[in-house]
Amino acid sequence: MAKLLANRRGAPGISWRPQGTEELCEFVNSTNLHRRGPQVRFAIARTADDTIVGSVGFHSISMTHRSAEVAYDLHPDEWGRGLATAACRSVVGWAMTQGLTRIQATVLSGNQPSLRVLERSGFEFEGHLRKYRWVEGIAHDALMYSYVQT
Ligand SMILES: CC(C)(COP(=O)(O)OP(=O)(O)OC[C@H]1O[C@@H](n2cnc3c(N)ncnc32)[C@H](O)[C@@H]1OP(=O)(O)O)[C@@H](O)C(=O)NCCC(=O)NCCS
Repeated sequence: MAKLLANRRGAPGISWRPQGTEELCEFVNSTNLHRRGPQVRFAIARTADDTIVGSVGFHSISMTHRSAEVAYDLHPDEWGRGLATAACRSVVGWAMTQGLTRIQATVLSGNQPSLRVLERSGFEFEGHLRKYRWVEGIAHDALMYSYVQT
């Protein structure tokens, strides 16, 4: 958990930055205990030594509109092996079985690895959102992607 947090500190391309392990633990525990709430986050774990190497899940879940926003992150030691793409595909497939019809993703402009995860998971580019995310005192543009059930 601490390694995952350290990965988030100062990392470009991500807008959610928990300030300490306590905040991170509270988030992971609460979202996993209340799956009907507006967000759910799953751990991505290495089975060989039962170590958490990342997380994936949804926020802004709306059962009224049958939509949610996907988010994911991995420890840098695990990058480039296709794990995020596999995790994204897996949770999007699961979400479709739960009755959602639209999964969206907003990626900070310039986060090329994340764009590739989405493209490889079947998401399509919808548009450029100007000054959409406020991160560390700067308003960042974001790119909107979506996956819809056809
Ligand atoms: C985005 C992230 C989850 C991708 O994880 P990953 O498991 O490495 O992704 P994949 O292995 O499935 O590969 C996705 C693409 O990223 C590319 N990539 C992976 N690591 C990279 C790196 N360090 N630099 C540039 N490209 C990289 C891969 O080559 C692949 O692109 P390709 O299809 O053109 O070959 C990971 O980089 C990460 O945790 N980043 C910090 C958190 C973050 O940005 N989360 C998303 C917020 S929207």
